[in-house]
Amino acid sequence: MLLRYKKSFQKIAMGLLSFMPNERDLKKLQQTMHIYEEEPEWQLFLWKKDEDFVGLIGIEVEEFIFTVHHISVNPSHRGEGVGHEMVRKITEMMQQRGMKMTVETEPFLKKIFEDDDGHVAAD
Ligand SMILES: CC(C)(COP(=O)(O)OP(=O)(O)OC[C@H]1O[C@@H](n2cnc3c(N)ncnc32)[C@H](O)[C@@H]1OP(=O)(O)O)[C@@H](O)C(=O)NCCC(=O)NCCS
Repeated sequence: MLLRYKKSFQKIAMGLLSFMPNERDLKKLQQTMHIYEEEPEWQLFLWKKDEDFVGLIGIEVEEFIFTVHHISVNPSHRGEGVGHEMVRKITEMMQQRGMKMTVETEPFLKKIFEDDDGHVAAD
């Protein structure tokens, strides 16, 4: 189940975000959290499986596109399809908007589209 971030999820969200290679530095991680908390276009979602938060996806929403800036899954739940499922749900939520990737999220997102034989929006 995909849940919108709220302040009470901060600790778990920071833990999941820190699995992103570019968010290992605490200062950078705090800056990123601040952006998600302050900028309405930047939206963070957590994936809840049974009683645990096991995944995170962070996007920036614009009128016709959305950018996936962050995606991570707790190492003990990787390979169970959580990453695929989060991207599927977010894509559904974003309706007609085209998806953009960043250097950090591109490898996994491209793999999903290859698996689905889907279409990736051009930059
Ligand atoms: C990337 C990540 C979110 C995938 O989550 P997940 O729930 O394990 O993914 P799924 O179970 O839906 O899919 C697993 C598949 O994705 C592949 N995969 C995992 N990480 C990948 C990556 N960085 N690039 C390309 N493919 C990747 C796996 O090899 C597996 O392939 P297979 O189905 O052919 O065996 C998770 O590995 C993670 O949190 N990584 C650390 C954070 C990170 O680097 N995020 C940015 C990734 S570009």
